[in-house]
Amino acid sequence: MQSTELKKVIQGIPKAELHLHIEGSFEPELMFKIAKRNNIVLDYDSIDSLKKAYKFNNLQEFLDLYYTGAQVLIHEQDFYDLTWAYLTKVHSQNVVHVEVFFDPQTHTDRGVPFDVVINGIHKALEKGERELHISYKLIMSYLRHLSEAEAFKTLESSLPYKDWIDGIGLDSSELGNPPSKFVNVFEASAAHGYKLVAHAGEEGPVDYIWEALDLLNVVRIDHGNRCLDDEVLVQRLIDEKIPLTLCPQSNVALNVIDKMEDHPVLKMLDKGILATIHSDDPAYFGGYMNENYYETAKALHLNNSQLQQLAINAFEASWLTREAKAKHIAQVNSYFNSLD
Ligand code: ADE
Ligand code: ZN
Repeated sequence: MQSTELKKVIQGIPKAELHLHIEGSFEPELMFKIAKRNNIVLDYDSIDSLKKAYKFNNLQEFLDLYYTGAQVLIHEQDFYDLTWAYLTKVHSQNVVHVEVFFDPQTHTDRGVPFDVVINGIHKALEKGERELHISYKLIMSYLRHLSEAEAFKTLESSLPYKDWIDGIGLDSSELGNPPSKFVNVFEASAAHGYKLVAHAGEEGPVDYIWEALDLLNVVRIDHGNRCLDDEVLVQRLIDEKIPLTLCPQSNVALNVIDKMEDHPVLKMLDKGILATIHSDDPAYFGGYMNENYYETAKALHLNNSQLQQLAINAFEASWLTREAKAKHIAQVNSYFNSLD
């Protein structure tokens, strides 16, 4: 397929984004704007020089810059603007459902109150649902480089907002911070009614995926690239229909793979794994949902039925009701039928 034709096909697919860190959607233009109104001087003297710094050898190098960028966010309006900018962008890409991560500790550790963060994000998500017809879920992530005791404090802070938060995630520096470090706080989070997911097998070994499943009882794995190292695990993912939320451009940007042609998503689809595609931190990795679909499809020569499967998998893997999933999947199917 020609690239313009492929882009057109991808644009038209109704899509669900299930792996997106709202702080990772912070575009340099907006970062400079918010820094200015908050009287913060960034280490970079222009948007271009900041963008030039977006070259990473690994996850930690990215995280260092990502946490620095997030320091500009102080007021409710800042979190609102960040979230609204993301929603309008993905609306233009025909994304109709989002499940968004936020990292409260990145902000509360700097003295920004939990309620400031969540109020801003929640207001924008509500407006997105009303005006852009993008349904949403919100996932609160614990930072795994911090202690379990600190995650417990975050859990406590979240409880007055329990009705706004659908699930718990685990992100940040993976190597050396296995899921087993967070067994108690994940158990307590589940007792409060939160659904559970965790980043595992991005840079970390396949054992971390096992731990996320067996010790944390997660219902989805974020990334999970390394699962193909283990046949028994692959069979478990298939049998239990455990979704993997993959982020191809992130994987290239952070050297999880050498090049897009090496991305495991096609092998995963062929095996029957519930693999899905998302953007992770689009402002830092060069693309939102459409670009992730496009770069993957181009490198792996995905055909329409594989694109259709990816789109269906994302709705299947979402936390929408059975009825809403069926409605979206019917729309994906009728879109692809209309192309024939
Ligand atoms: N936080 C934001 N993006 C992340 C990623 N790709 N892995 C782990 N933590 C993250
Ligand atoms: Zn992520």
